[in-house]
Formats: sequence, structure tokens, C-alpha cells
Amino acid sequence: MFYQVYPRSFADSTGNGVGDLVGIRDRLGYLELLGVDALWICPITRSPMADGGYDVADPRDIDPLFGGLTALDELIEEAHERGIKVTMDLVPNHTSSEHPWFIEALAAPPGSPERARYHFRDGLGPDGSLPPNNWPSIFGGPAWTRVTESDGAPGQWYLHLFAPEQPDVNWDNQEVWLDFEKTLRFWLDRGVDGFRLDVAHGMAKPEGLPDMAAVASGVLAHLDDNDPRFNHRGVHEIHRRIRRVLDEYPNAVAIGEVWVDDNDRFGEYVRPDELHLAFNFRLAETPFEADAVRDAIENSLAAVAGVGASPTWTLSNHDVPREVTRFGGGVVGLARARAMMLVELALPGAVFVYNGAELGLPNVDDLPEDALRDPTWERSGHTVRGRDGCRVPLPWEGPEPPFGFTTGRAWLPQPSQWAELTVEAQLEQLDSTLSLYRAAIELRGARPEFAGPTLDWYGSPSGCLAFRRPGGLICVLNASPVPVALPPGQVVLASAPVDGLSLPPDAAAWLM
Ligand code: NOJ
Repeated sequence: MFYQVYPRSFADSTGNGVGDLVGIRDRLGYLELLGVDALWICPITRSPMADGGYDVADPRDIDPLFGGLTALDELIEEAHERGIKVTMDLVPNHTSSEHPWFIEALAAPPGSPERARYHFRDGLGPDGSLPPNNWPSIFGGPAWTRVTESDGAPGQWYLHLFAPEQPDVNWDNQEVWLDFEKTLRFWLDRGVDGFRLDVAHGMAKPEGLPDMAAVASGVLAHLDDNDPRFNHRGVHEIHRRIRRVLDEYPNAVAIGEVWVDDNDRFGEYVRPDELHLAFNFRLAETPFEADAVRDAIENSLAAVAGVGASPTWTLSNHDVPREVTRFGGGVVGLARARAMMLVELALPGAVFVYNGAELGLPNVDDLPEDALRDPTWERSGHTVRGRDGCRVPLPWEGPEPPFGFTTGRAWLPQPSQWAELTVEAQLEQLDSTLSLYRAAIELRGARPEFAGPTLDWYGSPSGCLAFRRPGGLICVLNASPVPVALPPGQVVLASAPVDGLSLPPDAAAWLM
């Protein structure tokens, strides 16, 4: 089980209100207790933080905000002592606009080798005042920004699929690969166990950067598989090169962020000589409906079956609303999130738990506007609030904010109602969400009933689903509004109280 740490929001050891690596190290005991096998830490490399660290100014250094290189070395050492692996986020598709390469590119003339590391183009129209193509940025507005040349005149445009502070690099340029290879080796040589690769379906761009047929509207909009901005065939050669480097390091893993719906195209990313794992976001996008959940599971299994890779599962991450809220919020949303967690942890493959999910945290949808930090807020002209609501710092202990997250003022305010969701409040409470997670993770790791890479579906009442793993585990989900009879077997874990005979609505159970 991978545990995703959003480092700004996990634990702050310095009192500046932002989480850091010493904060993570201080909480390794908690992560061990939870039963975590590996951490995925969102970007901690040097960054001006225009997009929470996904704008990297130096990919081979740790930002002082997070404690610098020494803090990472110490975290890796102690995590390894506890049997926890450490994977980190790398961002190959773009750099920060403060990366030395981009600063050099701005100072250099059109057509120069410095500009060839990015996608600089002349604008359209008689005076070049129109963007080179019609691509929108994922964060709103055009995917192009015009620069001012060194003589002060309006000049070329550069491509940024995300914020203007995140110029896309040109992967046709050999220098870009050589530098990325250096980055991979730099961290692997320091003991990092692998990487989550950001926008792993990006990087390669189609020849000539053609216009899009229909311009996708909507900030952070879900992408169509024919979108020329992503999933270009050339990306697979990049993944093969990355894999050859990783293969030199025993057990190193590469996990790609791959937003591709088509199962065959998705599977291409996890062929034996490409990524080890790719995030499948279907469960994070599926409503709490049995048919939809079953569909998501079948598709996720089908997507990797053809190439023999492991499936991956995630209910949430730092880019999507938290599941408690997605499933309706309040008591019902929490019950459903607990149920879906049992479904997820019953599945074969790799599970990714986003920090705070184990506490049943809801999204915080009423953050004050002046607290919002997601670039989408500004880019959308204050129409899309963005992803801050799922990034609010974790509540650890005590009756009021900042709940032990910091001794200062948390970078995003925490709701006072989180007093009952703190780690401290839940740790010894047997029916808490944290206790449910701990029990589920422990059973999943220890019991032979979870063995086998497949599952068989059982017949089940309408609004429900049931499957059996070859080892013998049976998982039942009741997404219908009425209680349903449980199949024969002994209930070993349930997300809500059961009497052994029936399962209440919005609940799941494991039987053996
Ligand atoms: C995906 C990351 O998960 C997201 O947080 C980020 O904004 C974009 N990639 C751009 O790097």
C-alpha cells in the first residue's frame, strides 16, 4: 500500500505553517502503525511554488522550505529502518519559469539552442500577436504566453500546458533527456526507491503542434483521448529510456500519472519495458453506484491484463475532491467512503491512499477566497476555486486548529469541526475510520485470502456488488438504499455494524 504525502499539508516541524520532511520523519511511527509499505511524496524539489511544487526550478535539490537535502537523506534512512520505501515526484513535462534554462531561453534570441529546450514559436497574424495554435491551458486561458525580447519588443510565444510559470520542455531535444537521466540517477544513487512521474502521458508533442479539433473548455477539464496535447505516441520511447535507467537499480519503481481512458492505449504505458505502474483514476471518478464501481473495476483490470502489469487503485489524490465529499458528504458520505475503501483494499494490485483519507476527512469547500493558492483560481478569473479544498493540512491532535499540524498558522485554514477527526481522537476508538483502515491494511497484508491477481464476480441484488478473490476473500458492497442479505461466510471486517446476516446501505464487508 502506497501512502501519498502532500508535504505542505502533512506535518510542519518548523512553525512556518507549511509541512516539511522533518515533519514526515517525525510521523513515521504513525505511518508504520497504519501499515504503509511505501510513501509517494509530492514534489519537494526546489520550486517557487506557483503550482504547489509542480513548477521545478532545480530538479536535483530539495527546497529549503521542506528542509533541504539533509532532511531527505535522514527521512530515507529512517523510513528504510522501518521497512518503508520512499518514492518521490518528478516533473518531466515542464520546468519552472525560474529554472536556469528558462531564464537563459528568455535572454537568448529566437532560434537559439537555449530556446530549443522549450517550445518557442512565432505568433500568428501580421504582427505575431496571436498564439501559435488554439491549445488551452489545463489551468484556464491559452497554453501560450508571449515574451518580450531583449530589445523590448513583443516577441515569440512559449508553450505551457499548465500555468505560464510551467513552460513545457522540448523532449525532442537530446539535452532534455540527458538532464532528466542525470536527475533519475541523482535520486536513485541517494537511496530513493522510485518515482511518481507527473503528466507521464505528456512530454512528447505532435509534429508541428497542430490545432485541436474542438477546443476543450473548462478548467481542469477531463481530457478526451484524441486531445493532441497529451498521449502522443512518441512518449513511449521516453518511457523506455527511463525504464532502462531504472532497471540498473534493483527494485526501483516508476509510477506514471496517465490520464488516458482507452484501455488499450492505457495499457501501452505499462508494457514490460515502460512504466512499472500507471495510475488508473477510474475509482476516483466513479460515483457511489454499484454498476459504475463494477465497471470501473472491470475496466481497470482489463487495461493492464493484456500487458501483464499490476492494476492500481486510488479513491482520491491532491487533484480531486476528497471521497467523503464526492460521495455526498456528512454521515452518508463518510459511510460510503469507508465502504469504498474496503472495496479498494480488497482488489488485486497496488493501492494508493491519499493522506487524510484514513481519517475520513471531507473536502473543505468554503475556504476563504484570499486563502486560495491553486493557480486555477487566478487563471479562471476567480470562477474555479481549484484544488485547495483537498489540500488542507492534516489534523493530528488537540481540540482546535491547527490541531498539532504546526505551532504557527497553517498555510490553509482547517475547519474547527475536524476536532473529532484528529489522529489522536481516532487512534484508540475501535469504530473510527482510522481503525478501519488499520485493520483493513493489516488483513490485506497478512492473509492468504487476498492472494491471486484476479477476481470473480458473484451475483448480487440490484444496487450491490460482490466479488471473490482466488484466495477466498469475498467483498460485498451495498450501494442500494435497503439492507441486503450477506452471502455465507464469516464477516472479518465491515465498514458499518453488521449482525452477521445483513449488510446495511452504504456499507461494505469482507467475508472469508
Ligand atoms: C499533475 C499534478 O498531480 C498536478 O497537481 C499538477 O498541477 C499538474 N500535474 C501539473 O504539473
